[in-house]
Amino acid sequence: MDDDVVVIDEDENEKNGEETAEIRPPLTRSHKITRESSEKHNLLLILTGSIAVMKVTELISTLYEKCGKQRLSIKVVTTENAMKLLQIQKLELDEMIYEDRDEWSMWRERGDPVLHIELRKWADSALIAPLDANTLAKIANGLCDNLVTSVIRAWDLLKPCYFAPAMNTHMWENPLTLQHRNVLKSQLKFKEICPIQKELICGDTGQGAMASVGTITSVISALVRDQLAIRSKGS
Ligand SMILES: Cc1cc2nc3c(=O)[nH]c(=O)nc-3n(C[C@H](O)[C@H](O)[C@H](O)COP(=O)(O)O)c2cc1C
Repeated sequence: MDDDVVVIDEDENEKNGEETAEIRPPLTRSHKITRESSEKHNLLLILTGSIAVMKVTELISTLYEKCGKQRLSIKVVTTENAMKLLQIQKLELDEMIYEDRDEWSMWRERGDPVLHIELRKWADSALIAPLDANTLAKIANGLCDNLVTSVIRAWDLLKPCYFAPAMNTHMWENPLTLQHRNVLKSQLKFKEICPIQKELICGDTGQGAMASVGTITSVISALVRDQLAIRSKGS
């Protein structure tokens, strides 16, 4: 990450009886989001508040393995709840992680970057993995009350967007879930990477667990390969 890191007051941590992960200060208007190279595919990896965020480090390293680091650039966007899960799990990523607070700290006046628009312009594609029931419902209903849903509401629908739902079996089987998934697939033309059946962390067994890292990364690496091939033919 390219920004300074602030260490939370250790006394405060002791009072709480727990270690706190390091957090960086919010980004400022001088933060630039630029494309590195036309030979790279820019992937926006969007995380929402499902326990499956635990898979993010494996997901990212496998994506680089399958696509090649020289052909793929990843930026991560999180909801506040996904960030909480990352911090509880003490997961640290090398990639830039954008959060809600950055949206409001980067803009001061006309001409300053509007983060959700800059991210949308930077990206060649988006992968929402995991997509939890809450953000799925919000997207299906057009809500845009945080950075993740604003990026998606402003998404260029000609660019590919994949989503990998992850939720408890009862949430998955709720009729609203089917309704919301159908909106994403039929109206927005987003592509679903279907969940699988297994014993979930909450103890229930059934459909709803996020697709395997192998499946998700195979889908995305095929996309990266195809898009770079089309781009190189066009140049
Ligand atoms: C430990 C934990 C695990 C959770 N896992 C899931 C999950 O896998 N899928 C889901 O839909 N919600 C899950 N939730 C509930 C969501 O985090 C909750 O609905 C939250 O409001 C989602 O916010 P977001 O969509 O803004 O990230 C979990 C909550 C906790 C505390």
